[in-house]
Amino acid sequence: MKKWRFFLLISLWVSLLGCTQQSNLTMTETTTKNPSILIVYVSRTQNTKAVADMIQQSVGGDKIALELVVPYPKDYERMVDQVHRENETQALPALKTKIENMDQYDTVFVGFPTWDMQLPPPLKRFFHQYDLAGKKVIPFNTHAGYGVGSGFDTVKSLCKDCDVRRGISIEGGKEKQGRLLVIQKDYAKQVRNDVNQWLQRLGFD
Ligand SMILES: Cc1cc2nc3c(=O)[nH]c(=O)nc-3n(C[C@H](O)[C@H](O)[C@H](O)COP(=O)(O)O)c2cc1C
Repeated sequence: MKKWRFFLLISLWVSLLGCTQQSNLTMTETTTKNPSILIVYVSRTQNTKAVADMIQQSVGGDKIALELVVPYPKDYERMVDQVHRENETQALPALKTKIENMDQYDTVFVGFPTWDMQLPPPLKRFFHQYDLAGKKVIPFNTHAGYGVGSGFDTVKSLCKDCDVRRGISIEGGKEKQGRLLVIQKDYAKQVRNDVNQWLQRLGFD
């Protein structure tokens, strides 16, 4: 084989390997302000992510989305069925996202949509997998109009040795009716206001 072809093949292989590894990683978005704050969230249609972004813009810290080894179905009805089954059987889906440096954080914001009027199974898995004892845990939620359900109470019961603070619950999308990301434009301004007031009450400036 000609020398240049050999090098071309090797560099193609190396860059393919790089892509695969990249796709196995979940990106942490870091800021320089408040490195002891972590913002973890689950978001399917990006409403909870919009709130996570606002929190990070106000308080800083690192932000990471929890992703699953086997992603949920894209189809809404199949997704609802699967979550319902997981809740009934108390199945905890495996997380692809790994947080290696949990010791670095003393405050963990935990964001989630209401699913089946409960804390989403990936978040239940998160609390089983990571020891947050002694940390300040601050939950936030978006929902389709029915509120947080048992979500905040479940955070407290799964994180007994944590200092769980008052959460915020915000109306988000209605995927069932085709309304996906609604926290944008004028409504995002209103949500940002509510989020900042809540953060102030929690003692952040
Ligand atoms: C599987 C599933 C179950 C849901 N169950 C509820 C529910 O019980 N109550 C509710 O108010 N909203 C429910 N929703 C709507 C979401 O909570 C709402 O659209 C939320 O804003 C989505 O957040 P996201 O954009 O971060 O994914 C459900 C959505 C999904 C996908």
